[in-house]
Amino acid sequence: MQKILVWDWPVRIGHWLMAAGFGIAWLTAESESLHALHIVAGAIVLAVATFRLPWGLIGSRYARFRDFVRGPQQIRAYLKQMLELAPPETVGHNPAGAVAILLLLGLGILTSLLGWALEVELAGHWLEEVHEFVAGLMLTVVAVHLLGVAAGSLLHGENLVRAMLTGYKQGTAQQAIRSARPFAAVLLIAWIVTICWYLLR
Ligand code: HEM
Repeated sequence: MQKILVWDWPVRIGHWLMAAGFGIAWLTAESESLHALHIVAGAIVLAVATFRLPWGLIGSRYARFRDFVRGPQQIRAYLKQMLELAPPETVGHNPAGAVAILLLLGLGILTSLLGWALEVELAGHWLEEVHEFVAGLMLTVVAVHLLGVAAGSLLHGENLVRAMLTGYKQGTAQQAIRSARPFAAVLLIAWIVTICWYLLR
């Protein structure tokens, strides 16, 4: 076992921008003076989540959905092993964490699109209620996600938060990804700037 590169740049930059975007959008939701910041934060969530979908098809090994999305049987089996405090090692995302990840990407897109629809006055009060409800649902999934990350870190004896920052985990040389894909990260930033510009223009 050695230190190997697992998370590419788009996954890491996207993750922390999405987490910051969600946090800022949540904190500025009720403020009139910080409304533009609320829109930018929501736009970042939308941009990252929409970039992540194609990246889940063409990204590096552990970014690909086929590496971590599993059926209900495997998810149940993994959760059972987790409750027995003996989950199997996974280099990328584990099958249970993958459920939260898919929900966060889906809810991220839905919440920000609903917010955008509100912004262009597609509908009134009821849409505001739905936007708030979906955002609340997302906060619940974020809480579960954080518990899962803490549990995974403890059970595997590996700091998963540090891995999401540095890109490195423990593994064998064959399990490492070859490139951190810096050029794709530049595309991600360009996509975020485009979405922010479009929504604020
Ligand atoms: C400070 C708060 C947060 C921490 C410490 C954190 C930590 C992490 C960690 C360690 C992983 C990798 C888990 C693994 O090894 O399988 C991860 C993945 C992920 N997290 Fe978070 N997270 C935070 C907040 C959020 C928020 C607020 C969101 C969504 C709004 C979010 C969405 C995601 C997504 C989508 C992934 C999958 C990354 C990818 O494959 O692209 N996280 N998070």
